[in-house]
Amino acid sequence: MEVIIRPDKEKAMELVAKLIINAVREKPSLVLGLATGNTMEPLYAKIAEIHKREKVDFSLCRTFNLDEYVGLKAEHRNSYRHYMNEHFFNKINIDLRNTHLPSGTAKDLDRECEKYEQKMKECGGIDFQLLGIGKSGHIGFNEPLSAFFSRTRVKALTPTTIAQNSPLFDRPEDMPKRAITMGVGTILEAKRIVTLVVGSSKAEILAKAVEGPVTSMVSASALQLHSKCVVIADEKAAANLQGRDYYRWIFNNEPEWDEFR
Ligand code: F6R
Repeated sequence: MEVIIRPDKEKAMELVAKLIINAVREKPSLVLGLATGNTMEPLYAKIAEIHKREKVDFSLCRTFNLDEYVGLKAEHRNSYRHYMNEHFFNKINIDLRNTHLPSGTAKDLDRECEKYEQKMKECGGIDFQLLGIGKSGHIGFNEPLSAFFSRTRVKALTPTTIAQNSPLFDRPEDMPKRAITMGVGTILEAKRIVTLVVGSSKAEILAKAVEGPVTSMVSASALQLHSKCVVIADEKAAANLQGRDYYRWIFNNEPEWDEFR
């Protein structure tokens, strides 16, 4: 795992935007794993802006989102399908038929999860997985104690996650208490993972995920097991990291990051 610290959330987000754009340019048919949430909104706006300015082509790109709420129709303003269309897909030249999210209203949810895994496989697996980290330490909606070998399935959300996301609902009590999520095992199979974490509210959990023991109590700590994972954080989120100086040195000196300085 590599940790990159940028001075503020704009710089962190810009770096992730560039990594995604570069990956799409390198492989136009990229299979992109996507996340939702507050952290990703300005990121998607930034990518859409670069797409427009520099004519980046998403027409062959395939996407798979990490998760969807159980019980919300695609048209619901809080569904992740709605979020993705509004914040990203409608602003770039992607073919909506190439964008995938599990359906939270499928009659047979287990079958829906199996089908989702199958679709990913048929596309050759995820090339580039974008992640955020929740206050509960989740990636996707893999709440504490999610098995590291878990696959796409229905997961009950923790009170921490419900407190984090329910203010986004008109009536917070309407937030679903369950979601379909890719498993930790599914996520770990991505060829490359980029995790964006910003803000002081994430400092405590980020330190546990990156420098703490690998434990299913903190799903994001599983990322330590991945051979090509970078965590990009702003100074606020990085505040509790012991290795801050070393991580800053990496960005400022390693050739891999030359073009991004
Ligand atoms: C949602 C997802 C979640 C979020 C996490 C952080 O698709 O993958 O793991 O990334 O809950 O959310 P924000 O950015 O709202 O703090």
